[in-house]
Amino acid sequence: TNRPLVAGNWKMNGTKASAAELEAMGTGYDSALAEKVELLICPPALLVAQLASQDKITIGAQNCHAKESGAHTGDISAEMIRDAGGKFVIVGHSERREDHGESDADVCEKAEAAYRAGLVAIVCVGEVESERRAGTTLDVVTKQVLGSVPAGATAENTVIAYEPVWAIGTGLTPTPADVAEVHASIRATLIKQFGDEIGGKMRVLYGGSVKPTNAKELLAVENVDGALVGGASLKAADFLGIAEAY
Ligand code: 13P
Repeated sequence: TNRPLVAGNWKMNGTKASAAELEAMGTGYDSALAEKVELLICPPALLVAQLASQDKITIGAQNCHAKESGAHTGDISAEMIRDAGGKFVIVGHSERREDHGESDADVCEKAEAAYRAGLVAIVCVGEVESERRAGTTLDVVTKQVLGSVPAGATAENTVIAYEPVWAIGTGLTPTPADVAEVHASIRATLIKQFGDEIGGKMRVLYGGSVKPTNAKELLAVENVDGALVGGASLKAADFLGIAEAY
């Protein structure tokens, strides 16, 4: 799993008509590009089954419940995502941590649910602005990685996404040197926790205001194995523009 991953998180955007945009992405994703980079789109859950009916772009979901089934009104399980044709699930996105009070322990359970269902978990971590300013970024991110990534993580079933919260949807990005510092720290944590073989290979994505214009510089940073893209994943031209940084 050393092929980099460019993943799109559509958040709460998209309708059935978005299939046309996905088709345009699939058309632009030719075999030369596919050799260099894996593409994934995580649409709203209601669209997973419909969008997974094409086979050029892998589809995932944005969240799951930790349990397989039961009395949890409004929730969906990892098994349901799998049943709908999803292959990945994002867990612990900062918007879920913030809007739904998800803790590291909650995120860890959701990642375990993903493994149980045969999905790849994309575990999100990242500091808020006040933590960045206070100089505690590496401590915050290390604690999140240790608390959110299950013991059963492998380079195949897990992807880490480093998303500084202050960079999400703001047009602001850390400098390549700052990204390198955090990614090196995450890599060291993963190697310490899971050993060279797993920790060295697990993909660590950068997310937060990735655009075609800054993708080359961000994706060239050491230990950056791809991107988690919000706004710029909604349009085929932007999303492919980012993938073409490879
Ligand atoms: P933006 O790319 O819109 O900043 O969002 C990043 C993100 O949160 C992806 O999960």
